[in-house]
Amino acid sequence: MTQTLAAAPSPAALSPAAPSPVLPPLVIGPHTVATPVVLAPMAGITNAPFRALCREHGAGVFVSEMVTSRALVERTPESFRLVAHEPGASPRSVQLYGVDPATVGAAVRLLVEEDLADHVDLNFGCPVAKVTRRGGGAALPWKTGLFTAVVRAAVTAAAPAGVPVTVKMRTGVDAEHLTYLTAGRIAEAEGVAAVALHARTAAQYYSGHADWSAIARLKEAVTTVPVLGNGDLFSAEDALAMVATTGCDGVVVGRGCLGRPWLFADLAAALAGDPTRQRPGLGVVAATLRRHAQLLVEHHGDEGRGCRDIRKHVAWYLKGYPVGGDLRARLALVETLAELDEALAELDLTAGHPGAAAEGTRGRTSGTPRVALPEGWLDDHDLPATGPVAEALAAAELSASSTSGG
Ligand SMILES: Cc1cc2nc3c(=O)[nH]c(=O)nc-3n(C[C@H](O)[C@H](O)[C@H](O)COP(=O)(O)O)c2cc1C
Repeated sequence: MTQTLAAAPSPAALSPAAPSPVLPPLVIGPHTVATPVVLAPMAGITNAPFRALCREHGAGVFVSEMVTSRALVERTPESFRLVAHEPGASPRSVQLYGVDPATVGAAVRLLVEEDLADHVDLNFGCPVAKVTRRGGGAALPWKTGLFTAVVRAAVTAAAPAGVPVTVKMRTGVDAEHLTYLTAGRIAEAEGVAAVALHARTAAQYYSGHADWSAIARLKEAVTTVPVLGNGDLFSAEDALAMVATTGCDGVVVGRGCLGRPWLFADLAAALAGDPTRQRPGLGVVAATLRRHAQLLVEHHGDEGRGCRDIRKHVAWYLKGYPVGGDLRARLALVETLAELDEALAELDLTAGHPGAAAEGTRGRTSGTPRVALPEGWLDDHDLPATGPVAEALAAAELSASSTSGG
């Protein structure tokens, strides 16, 4: 049973007037989204099953895992699986990674001509060494000419179909090499429909705290399209605080919803001015975990693969709930749905929500010793047509396939 928890009623809540929304609807090109919340693309996580679960609980924009434009253009089966959407999904948001304007343009054309997406998001935030070492992800906006060309190619290819393009980026390579204000202005001038900022540098990876003040500064710099704030939203209250302190037009939530798709219900309520919050007991958690596993098995068309995929979610779902170490370990090793059912049956399904223990940070929190970059990358903002930097870039998309990061 889902317990809901209402905060102490404020004077406003006691009045008969309906709660008033904290933000107006989010407009991304032709799409008007009543709840200005975006599920952050997360490689290995935000596949169609997880997006469907999140969508059921709330509303907003639910972005696919990243797919490399090259793999899509080469029509690899895995890339088509990555861009597949759950039935009825709207808008269908696909995140593309790319470093070569021609390939990105071709990938966007493929998506719109084959009616595979209603919205394309471009990944300029990946901090993973094998991507930045080749000049991709969070390294790319430093090369302003290349960044402009990639964004322009995507916007141009999407325009005939009326499909909006957005960019998602970090604040920069490191504290001495910030890119977000210039990149935000360029993207706006090139015709993107929104910009999202994960307010960390690549060097910060997932460590420390996101610097929300950068979101406020981006909001001042980018004035004609929505600015979406991202970083460290682990509760609806965090989202309200980000909106209040930055003036952002919507929030992008990543790790906070791991093992907690009902966070989208909290976010929808909070942004509608409603203090109701979801506080599920273990029975609801177990049923959601089971359904997630079933959806993954159907998505992969392979019980073993679906079960291996659900394993990484187990600890997130059970965070804070009274479940013994042995049972947790067994759940994290299930091979079949039958094994999953046996283990879930041993849970105390009557256990209520454990309070703060189930809340708070989850997922990656680590840093990185140093951002890997092509030699000489930071020397200037131009990209030489030949030499080691150009070669690194040419290899970038090949090595980004199957990367989990952003
Ligand atoms: C496991 C994992 C995978 C991610 N994959 C991507 C990705 O494919 N594309 C992207 O733009 N960001 C990716 N990110 C970054 C998130 O979209 C988000 O920007 C980041 O986690 C910060 O938001 P949060 O504090 O709400 O988690 C990933 C993050 C995690 C934890």
